[in-house]
Amino acid sequence: MAERPSDNSGTRGGVDAFRRTPTGIESLDQLLGGGLPDGNSLLVQGAPGTGKTILGMQFLQAGIEQFEEPGMFVTFEEHPRRLYRDARALGWDFEAHEKSRKLLVVFTSPEAFLRELASDNYGKMVREYGLRRVVVDSLTQFESYPSAVEQGRVRFERVVNALRRDDLSVVMTRETESRESPFRVTPEEYLADTLIQLEYRRTEETRDARRVRILEVLKNRGSAHSSSAHTFVIGMGGINLQRSPAQAL
Ligand SMILES: Nc1ncnc2c1ncn2[C@@H]1O[C@H](COP(=O)(O)OP(=O)(O)OP(=O)(O)O)[C@@H](O)[C@H]1O
Ligand SMILES: [Mg+2]
Repeated sequence: MAERPSDNSGTRGGVDAFRRTPTGIESLDQLLGGGLPDGNSLLVQGAPGTGKTILGMQFLQAGIEQFEEPGMFVTFEEHPRRLYRDARALGWDFEAHEKSRKLLVVFTSPEAFLRELASDNYGKMVREYGLRRVVVDSLTQFESYPSAVEQGRVRFERVVNALRRDDLSVVMTRETESRESPFRVTPEEYLADTLIQLEYRRTEETRDARRVRILEVLKNRGSAHSSSAHTFVIGMGGINLQRSPAQAL
């Protein structure tokens, strides 16, 4: 089992006393200065097809395989059978993890999930499975939540605080429109401790103007982080980061 980093190794000149939770995507942990500072919630944003769900799955897979940390995947979108299928294509046996109780896949609605969070049922699951990591895919589904008083900020805080109660590492995804104004900052972006933006964009810098996948860390409370955009590929084993676009193209 891999050791969890407990000091500031890997940060650039930063002095911090955070214990860190490695995401399990090794090169991403380097960009974050050694991993997610413990207690930081991570929000992964991007347009459809940019790799948000895969990053979430990889976070859980790494927790189970490398750190013996059981995890929960809460999905409002993908039926568990599809999730198993997609995981298998990346080399991960989620069905086996569920059978051995290292993984809990919860396919539910935002309303039911909020009810569970408010009740002790959720705490019971955390204790029963010894959960350490949770992925919520995606917050976008909460936007259709019927309560008018439940504004984005309130809702986000409710979800994060409830999940954090049990000292879990929380990763959430959120869909952004490809053409969303860069000047519109959402409450979720303000409130997340660590923010990662994924893109799949056409670049004139390649000879054939093909699309490249880009990952950028936009903030990481309490810690230094990389300030460059990095290209990545998706394949067996999930997300594999390369270099900054200028170097990679
Ligand atoms: N096994 C695989 N090998 C290579 N690429 C893959 C594999 N599985 C998925 N992909 C790529 O990853 C992309 C989708 O990633 P993912 O489902 O994580 O996106 P997403 O950001 O969650 O999208 P959405 O917002 O629609 O849910 C696919 O469009 C596909 O190009
Ligand atoms: Mg998805």
